[in-house]
Amino acid sequence: MKLFDVYPINDITITKALGSRVWDNNGIEYMDLYGGHAVISIGHTHPHWVKRIEEQLNKIAFYSNSIKIPLQEELAEKLGEVSGKKDFELFLCNSGAEANENALKLASFHTNRKKIVSFKKAFHGRTSLAVAATDNPSIVAPVNETDNIVFLPFNDIETLTNYFTEKGNEVAAIIIEGIQGVGGINVASNNFLIAIRKLCDQYGSIYIADSVQCGYGRSGIFFSHDCAGVEADIYSMAKGMGNGFPIGGIIVSPKFKAKHSMLGTTFGGNHLACAAALAVLEVMQKESLMENAKTVGDYLMNELKLIPQISGVRGRGLMIGFDVPDEYKNLKKDLLFKYKIFTGEAKPNVIRLLPSLALNMNDATTFISTLKIAITAYQP
Ligand SMILES: Cc1ncc(COP(=O)(O)O)c(C=O)c1O
Repeated sequence: MKLFDVYPINDITITKALGSRVWDNNGIEYMDLYGGHAVISIGHTHPHWVKRIEEQLNKIAFYSNSIKIPLQEELAEKLGEVSGKKDFELFLCNSGAEANENALKLASFHTNRKKIVSFKKAFHGRTSLAVAATDNPSIVAPVNETDNIVFLPFNDIETLTNYFTEKGNEVAAIIIEGIQGVGGINVASNNFLIAIRKLCDQYGSIYIADSVQCGYGRSGIFFSHDCAGVEADIYSMAKGMGNGFPIGGIIVSPKFKAKHSMLGTTFGGNHLACAAALAVLEVMQKESLMENAKTVGDYLMNELKLIPQISGVRGRGLMIGFDVPDEYKNLKKDLLFKYKIFTGEAKPNVIRLLPSLALNMNDATTFISTLKIAITAYQP
């Protein structure tokens, strides 16, 4: 049997990883500033994370949500503590799309409404409602198409307000990334998020903060949306939550009332996933990784802004994007194959940095000097 060929793949096989480094099957070392797409939060194969998972594996890996799983309560407690959302409640699932799917569903249950406001260039996942709320028609199958979703311009308070004046009473939820990831690292302005909060309060709609990529400390605070000083009703999360172990979730404000069977999953919140997620939060706290993301991220942003060949440096913490002009369009490939540095990309010609939150200053400095060399030596 062959693999269903849906991924454009780089011809590299990684066989070993540690911290912000990975090695291929020929023993070649790479610096990882991509983190497997913003997933590696505390660093590859962190010893505490490995130990926690190993210990759990020797006890029990999985049992269904039909029994008590105290690890879920332990995780909820720790998440409340690290995120500061102690009065929110946690529902666990397995991925970012699933988290958003549940968030949208819950908003619709709660408001008994159908309309969802999403934004241009948004990415919320590939399952049915999540993909319908994603601004990329090429990945929306005919069966996912729905009139219930509207895409409005990002960071445009006036258009959003006008839409609500007309249709606000039909809107179940607004879903927004605090920093658009797949869309090319576009930061939601504080004023826009404040306007979203106000409109949701005024019209009884739900504010969903998609924190799958920009959350979990990556921006230097736990949820990037919160820099606006207003709280969302639901935060969705995944990626960094398990440092590579698949786990996702939503946290919901006290305004939501749970009802048995309204949400559910077989694998979500299993013992092993909870152990991995607990290890992540413990390391984040112990090693002050949010603070590190801010310090190293600020350094990278400042240095990038000084490089004349690149422009549009944007982001927060360790979620950074910049534009490379068309004549440098193979720079990302050069960084990978010539200079052995993994970075991410977004079209057209955006390079994204999504490293582990434990990236150290040495690696950040090495990256900047290597990038300068790569740009100077660039041959189209
Ligand atoms: C903002 C955002 N939401 C949702 C998703 C979907 O997450 P997953 O691939 O885990 O389903 C992604 C994935 O890139 C994302 O960046």
